[in-house]
Amino acid sequence: MKKFLHIIAVMLLLVSGAKADEGMWLPMLLKKYNYEQMKAKGLKLTPEQLYDVNNSSLKDAIVWFNGGCTGEIISSKGLVLTNHHCGYDAIASNSTPENNRLDNGFWAKNNGEEIPIAGMWVSIVQRMEDMTDRVQNELKGVSEKDRPAKLQEIFKKITTEATAGTTYEAQMREMFRGNAYYLFIFQRFTDIRLVGTPPQSVGKFGGDADNWMWPRHTGDFSMFRIYANKNNEASGYAPDNIPYTPKHSLPINIKGVKEGDYAMIYGFPGRTNRYEFSQGIDLAIEKVNPTIVNLRDIRLKAWKEVMDKNEGDRLKLSADYAQIANYWKYFIGQTEQMKRLKVYDFKVASENKFNEFAKGKPEFQDVIANVEKAYVAYRPIALQRIYLGEGILGVSMNSMSTSLFAYAKNAKDNKDTAAANKAIKGAQAGADEFYNSFFPSADEKILAQILEMYYNNIPVDQHPAYMAVILKSKGATTAEKFRNYSKLVYAKSFLASKEKFDAFTKAPSYKKLMADPCFAMTYAFYNHYLDNYKAQIDAFNAAIAPEARAYIKGLMEMNPSKTFYPDANSSLRLTYGSVQAYEPKDAVKFDYMTTLDGVIEKYNPKDFEFNAPQKLIDLYNAKDFGNYKREDGRMPVAFITNNDITGGNSGSPVIDGEGRLIGLAFDGNWEAMSGDIVFDEKYKRTINVDIRYVMFLIDKLGGAPHIVAEMNLVQ
Ligand code: ARG
Repeated sequence: MKKFLHIIAVMLLLVSGAKADEGMWLPMLLKKYNYEQMKAKGLKLTPEQLYDVNNSSLKDAIVWFNGGCTGEIISSKGLVLTNHHCGYDAIASNSTPENNRLDNGFWAKNNGEEIPIAGMWVSIVQRMEDMTDRVQNELKGVSEKDRPAKLQEIFKKITTEATAGTTYEAQMREMFRGNAYYLFIFQRFTDIRLVGTPPQSVGKFGGDADNWMWPRHTGDFSMFRIYANKNNEASGYAPDNIPYTPKHSLPINIKGVKEGDYAMIYGFPGRTNRYEFSQGIDLAIEKVNPTIVNLRDIRLKAWKEVMDKNEGDRLKLSADYAQIANYWKYFIGQTEQMKRLKVYDFKVASENKFNEFAKGKPEFQDVIANVEKAYVAYRPIALQRIYLGEGILGVSMNSMSTSLFAYAKNAKDNKDTAAANKAIKGAQAGADEFYNSFFPSADEKILAQILEMYYNNIPVDQHPAYMAVILKSKGATTAEKFRNYSKLVYAKSFLASKEKFDAFTKAPSYKKLMADPCFAMTYAFYNHYLDNYKAQIDAFNAAIAPEARAYIKGLMEMNPSKTFYPDANSSLRLTYGSVQAYEPKDAVKFDYMTTLDGVIEKYNPKDFEFNAPQKLIDLYNAKDFGNYKREDGRMPVAFITNNDITGGNSGSPVIDGEGRLIGLAFDGNWEAMSGDIVFDEKYKRTINVDIRYVMFLIDKLGGAPHIVAEMNLVQ
């Protein structure tokens, strides 16, 4: 019977085909849970070719890129492909108005021209292991309160044992909110060099206007190289390091994809919240998300003014701006789609069903009620954290002043002079970078508006006492008071210029620090949070943790035949499905692929988000697409698949049924922006840049055929 049902399920998948494929699966479990289904969908590889510990497999070509993205190795000389927006910071910080690699693009002509990027790293998973039994054994008898500390202790023990005598690194990952634990062993490389990038008018074509949306026309890629020592081992930067020889590199499929083709994505999805409770959804929609958006709006507008005035300043702020704008729009979209797709109602219905199941089961029966109780206490103070992190500390100078917190603590009453001196050294270390891209007049405007927003939206009885000091400023309205106060802060604070900051850190004084208006204000807001809210917020998280754990355990017992996948947590995952078009709304159909024709349609030299290099337009007019064009002669740009990804998957390889690279994942689509909370089968798509466009941009636009020559192109 079971088998029969399974066959029907596979057949349904084959005929309907239109449904997106939910699940970010753990590579070592694919063989057990997913392989048959993958094969039915078109996978031609063996499970060992996907993931193996003793022999090379696809996983050896997948890198965790600098902690926030994914990359893939595409040549035997350690060439790594990732998104443009993942390399953005490295590219922008190696650009000046005179040598503007961000705007003009860049391709190293040889290894010698590749640019080492300080601080950048990539990690490759060596193996993973299920540690659930061991962790749960060691947790026996440990109280809920002691659990977090005990877990850290257990993790430490396991990771230390696992890496003893090796140069590897280990990480433990909690899955299913504490129902399972996995160990991951990595090799981390830290000599990473920039090989090339298209101009940002290509790599970020469509800018924030098109961000999170399909149809899309972005050539979102950049290229790096892993360097190793002479023995091919991970090593810090050294001039005589050599290109790393990987265990596996992905061949490039330049034949291209068609609708319905098998597609899988391997990478490091960052965070999903698929088991979030309805209470959390309601809070996000009503309070948290709109607050983040409004607070970010203030910063973005003020920075935009600076960036529009001066090219050098634009280069300095671009990377931070892009990062803030990306999640500003994310939260707008997430809110909109959670409402449209009635995610709250869906969650309530699931919780009701759970309650039915839980009745009379002591382990589960109070879960939902306990969660509700925790939210009743949390909801009124939930914005405190956001206003601190995205508000008060979103002001650049305030965030800089936090570098002196440790000094303040230790210098008070000469508590610990050595620690105080060390703190000053730490603050000095970050100063050059900070003041290089600090714009006090923009910051002054931001502070005034953020204080006003705080004042208007946080209940009076939750204001810090310091608010009264601020409100003593002159002004007929509170808005004017905040403006005047802000003016004073930037006129008087020693944090407002590098010279004054240096003067202070050369001769630090506790008294002077406490009298500084920027420091005093930031310290007051911060301590207000620590003293009055942190304990409550920690208590909320501690109250939710065991309920979430029980909830997922209960769901698994409720659905014994269902295979569950854990929420994303920056560990290696694989998602599989196919190339799929979709209908965003009634009577509208979005095709599965865009072409260069669409770049030309959107092209507008007066709008920096839709500008494009003249050379690209010339290549288009001459139809000079080399071997990379489609059968109909058009140049593919991007395509969509029904894979299940999230942030962190940026740069992940999209791989065909034979293990060849067909594209790079770079975004999600607007109609499924609620996807981190609930996967919507009808709307959820992944947006990928077509590998043929990448090859065309390197070869033809970039004039770097020697880079393409390193790769293994297959038809
Ligand atoms: N939304 C993309 C992601 O989070 C990033 C796109 C970057 N582009 C931009 N216009 N900010 O992966």
